[in-house]
Amino acid sequence: MTRDEQKRAVAEAALGYLTPGDTVGVGTGSTAALFIDQLAAHPELVAAAVPSSEATAAALRDAGIRVVGLDEVPAPAVYVDGADVVDPELRLIKGAGGALVREKIVASASRLFVCIVDESKLSPRLDGPTGDHPEGAPVPLAVVPMAAPLVSARVRALGGSVAVRPGYLTDDGLTVLDVSGLTLDDPARREVALDAIPGVVENGIFAGRRADVVLVGSSTGVQTLEPPV
Ligand code: A5P
Repeated sequence: MTRDEQKRAVAEAALGYLTPGDTVGVGTGSTAALFIDQLAAHPELVAAAVPSSEATAAALRDAGIRVVGLDEVPAPAVYVDGADVVDPELRLIKGAGGALVREKIVASASRLFVCIVDESKLSPRLDGPTGDHPEGAPVPLAVVPMAAPLVSARVRALGGSVAVRPGYLTDDGLTVLDVSGLTLDDPARREVALDAIPGVVENGIFAGRRADVVLVGSSTGVQTLEPPV
């Protein structure tokens, strides 16, 4: 299977986690977009969807799916989204598409997080190589724009290097800093430490709220990863 075929296969497999009448949280990115295509083909499987970005909300509406917020459905049954890196404990790096703040909110609110990826996203460590990032994927930070210089200095002091996403603001008006070179020996601790820098709204490490299930598209089909016991 090509990479696109792998993404399509996991997007379809994620339908197996839906129960008719449920509300589903929906992520952002190319793999999540293929999941929305599946919802469009099977609208009977969901009552409504909570989007993780304005782009996803628009795609869901185009697909004929009712869009709701967490005020209406505080705990969606399932959250389905892609990722940039997946480690063996199902911790993730997310946010290459810039939607990390709302993604972490909806993922954290949801009862089950089903992550859908092609096999290029798997890595033995969160700071390890992936298909797209042989030297490790950057960790995105969504920050209040005026705090970007302070946050950049604090991150450099931790050993990271910082690239500001030029001309980009998130749906919530935040600047995104892509941080490379941070070691992630203890991803949960790093996640908390980054969020503690004044001005950081959220970072792209999903260790506190990791995936419950990861569906991986591979050349031989869809594999299901669950956390080690
Ligand atoms: C969006 O902000 C990201 O978190 C995406 O979920 C992640 O980048 C995966 O995107 P793709 O499915 O396009 O690889």
